[in-house]
Amino acid sequence: MKPDAENVTNPQHFRPWAKVASPSANLTQTSWDLKQREHIQALNEKYWLDKGHTPIPKEIFLNHSKIWLEIGAGTGGFFLELAKNNPDAHLLAIERCKIRSGRMIQKFSKSGLQNIQGFRGNAIPALITGVPSESIERIYILYPCPWPKNAHRKNRWYLHTVMSHLVRILKPGGLLIWASDQEFYIREAAFVSESKYQLQTLFNGQITPNLYNDLERFPNGRTSFENKFLSSGQPCFELISQRQ
Ligand SMILES: C[S@@+](CC[C@H](N)C(=O)[O-])C[C@H]1O[C@@H](n2cnc3c(N)ncnc32)[C@H](O)[C@@H]1O
Repeated sequence: MKPDAENVTNPQHFRPWAKVASPSANLTQTSWDLKQREHIQALNEKYWLDKGHTPIPKEIFLNHSKIWLEIGAGTGGFFLELAKNNPDAHLLAIERCKIRSGRMIQKFSKSGLQNIQGFRGNAIPALITGVPSESIERIYILYPCPWPKNAHRKNRWYLHTVMSHLVRILKPGGLLIWASDQEFYIREAAFVSESKYQLQTLFNGQITPNLYNDLERFPNGRTSFENKFLSSGQPCFELISQRQ
C-alpha cells in the first residue's frame, strides 16, 4: 500500500499497525531473526564498545546486593514510589532523553532517598559494557517503543544485541518485567525469552495485579504511559520472566 493522501484519507486503508504480521507469521519470522542475529552479535557489540558512553559507576555493583533496574524510566515516578516502599533494594533508573532524565534526577535528589539513583544515557552501551554478570535482581522495561513496522523490528529490545546482556546481568531467580500496550510485542518477547534464553514465564497476558507488578498500589497505572493507556481504555499487556 502506498502511503499517499488517498490511502490515508480512506478509512479502509488507514490501519496504523498494518505492518504487524499475524501471530504465527510473527513467531516464524522471529525464529528466523534470532538465527540471523547470532551472526551479527559480535559486530554489534564492537560497534557499541567503540562508540563510547558514560558508564554506570562500578561501585554501585560492589556496594549493593539487591539492585533493581528500570530501562527507559521516563521521569522516574514509578521507581521513586518503589524505592519508598522497598528500602532494602537499591534502584537504578536509566533514561536517554535529556528533558525526562533531568526531571527524573531532580525528583530523585529532592526525595532525599538514599536507595535510588538516576542516570541519563543510552542503556544499550551501558548494559553491554558496564554491568557485571548476575548483579541485578529485577529489570523493568515498561512501555518501550514497540517498533511496529516490520523493517524496524531489529530495534525491539528482545531482538536487539542487548537482550543477551539483559539475561547475563540478571541473577539466577531474577526477574525481567515487561509491559506494553501492544500485545504482539509481549507475545514475541515471551517467545524469544523462552526459546532462546530459557527464561521461565511467570506471567504473560493482559495486565492485572499480581505478586510481582505492584499494580494494586498504582490504581492509575505505574508510569505515565500506563496511566495514559489505561485511562483511555486501551488494554495493556505484561510479561514477567525469570532466569533459572
Ligand atoms: C514510551 S517511553 C515510556 C516511558 C516510561 N517507561 C513510561 O512507561 O511512562 C520510552 C522511554 O524509553 C526511553 N528510551 C528508549 N531507548 C532508550 C535507551 N536505549 N536508553 C535509555 N532510555 C531509552 C525513551 O527516551 C522514553 O523515555
